[in-house]
Amino acid sequence: MSTCKIAVIDGDGIGPEVCQSAVRVLREAVGSCKLDFELLPGGAGHYRKTGKVLPEETFTACAGSHAILHGAAGLPDVRYPDGTEAGNDLHLDLRFRLDLYANVRPIKLLPNVRSPLNGVTAGSIDYVIVRENTEGLYASRGGGIRLRGEVATDTLVITRKGTERVARFAFNLSRQRNGAPKDGKRRLTVCDKANILRSYSFFRSVCEEVWKENFQDIEIDYAYVDAITVHLIKNPQYYDVIVAENMFGDIISDLGAGTIGGLGIAPSSEIGDDHGLFQGSHGSAPDIAGLGIASPLATILSAKMMLEWLADRHGDGHLSDAANRIETAVNSVLQDRVLPRDLGGTSTCEEITVAVIRALNMPRATAA
Ligand code: IPM
Ligand code: MN
Repeated sequence: MSTCKIAVIDGDGIGPEVCQSAVRVLREAVGSCKLDFELLPGGAGHYRKTGKVLPEETFTACAGSHAILHGAAGLPDVRYPDGTEAGNDLHLDLRFRLDLYANVRPIKLLPNVRSPLNGVTAGSIDYVIVRENTEGLYASRGGGIRLRGEVATDTLVITRKGTERVARFAFNLSRQRNGAPKDGKRRLTVCDKANILRSYSFFRSVCEEVWKENFQDIEIDYAYVDAITVHLIKNPQYYDVIVAENMFGDIISDLGAGTIGGLGIAPSSEIGDDHGLFQGSHGSAPDIAGLGIASPLATILSAKMMLEWLADRHGDGHLSDAANRIETAVNSVLQDRVLPRDLGGTSTCEEITVAVIRALNMPRATAA
């Protein structure tokens, strides 16, 4: 791959700090000749100035890029007349217009990160939540009923196409991994509420059809969404890959992040057939914006996911090598206890960024 065009949307709050930290790490790991970054406007701050959350020029540049790297979007005081936040439309619009149907949220306990759970060690929690990202309860966003200030509704939409493609994505992801920490089994857990709602029993039945069609080398497993919140606390080692409807995936991915150090170290990728958006799972944290104390780790790890995805799409070994080096560097920085505040440390965004860049240039350590 000669040069990858990366659309960069810093966004709001801590977004610019953490996004630019990841850009610096990417330049160091890959070499700037292979990555061409284009900084683009968008988010709540931009809406406040221009009335546009996602300017059409930004969307066009994203649609024409090889990948999109995003910091964070949203400011609590910037709202539409209906009371919903404006900034979120930045990546919601990108999700729906670019059809980014698989929201991939790795939940992995890294070295020296303290989990609130007992009896877990680095690597013993290592699963991925694949959240369907374009339908479910989000399909009717902005289209529900608001009646006389007395009734409000949103509709849960489950389609065969939407479920088939996210299930195939999740099964293929499990095939590329080494199985659950507990037993090494490649396992896809279908998370739903099939015992009560027909939309979810439909979701489950389509996942099972996909399994029978081409994935019986992978164990299929089922969990009701209420029950899985207990299992992810009491037995997280059992999980390899979990697939869930949009809203359920949104909720359980934050629960999972809470078990491995919080949203500040939880990366994500939002993948469609033709585009990929990469951002930390956290929000814009306006209360600490500009103080230099935000953790860039989630965005740096999301940038690592971006390189893995680009390497896979374009068969580029240099990019996958760079991704591995970033993961090794982050692990060594954590092992050296260069920790942000949300992980119990005192290191600033700049100190962590410099430490990761320095670790990138250390003699090769093996990835933990
Ligand atoms: C997430 C966030 C978004 C969502 C919000 C900010 C639009 O919670 O990415 O998990 O609801 O999907
Ligand atoms: Mn969320």
